[in-house]
Amino acid sequence: MKLKIAPTQREVFLEPGEVIVSKTDLTGRITYANRAFMRLADFSEPELLGTQHNIVRHPDMPRGAFKLLWDTLKGGREFFGYVKNMTSNGDFYWVFVNVTPDCDANGKLVGYFSVRRIPGRKAVAVMQGIYEEMLAVEKRAGAANASAASIEFLQAKLKTLGITYERFILSLCEQE
Ligand SMILES: Cc1cc2nc3c(=O)[nH]c(=O)nc-3n(C[C@H](O)[C@H](O)[C@H](O)COP(=O)(O)O)c2cc1C
Repeated sequence: MKLKIAPTQREVFLEPGEVIVSKTDLTGRITYANRAFMRLADFSEPELLGTQHNIVRHPDMPRGAFKLLWDTLKGGREFFGYVKNMTSNGDFYWVFVNVTPDCDANGKLVGYFSVRRIPGRKAVAVMQGIYEEMLAVEKRAGAANASAASIEFLQAKLKTLGITYERFILSLCEQE
């Protein structure tokens, strides 16, 4: 169950070289969490295993960002993105995430595998601004249309820059 925690303004960080790894089933329920995940998000292994990955969802993240993630995965592609997450006491941390399909020995899709690293600060600043704009669009659109509206806003913005979402995300990483 997702706990109701008030977000704080305190940012916490991965150690240099540390990566957060998690695996989920096909619905986003956590099936594996490494020590870095438990340390930074401040949840124990029993609290994480079997729980939906939205346990670390931060309210500053627009719904559209996660619709994009799921649409990409359901479309059979890997996902790259920047995510602001919340710890068990409401603190926050930013990560650069790569989510890929997790297949069993017979090649059957059994879930997803995600690796998160320390993001560059310029990239975080850019994505924070974009997410704030997407959230404002979602508020105006109302709950039922929120993610469709903010994705449309994001796609229009990227179109003016002449770049795809994936190229844009990877270019932020390269600019550091
Ligand atoms: C492998 C994998 C990793 C994920 N990692 C995160 C994450 O770090 N933070 C997060 O908020 N959602 C993550 N999600 C997305 C969540 O499943 C969920 O869609 C999101 O938190 C939005 O939840 P909500 O629809 O309940 O608001 C991940 C999903 C998958 C499949």
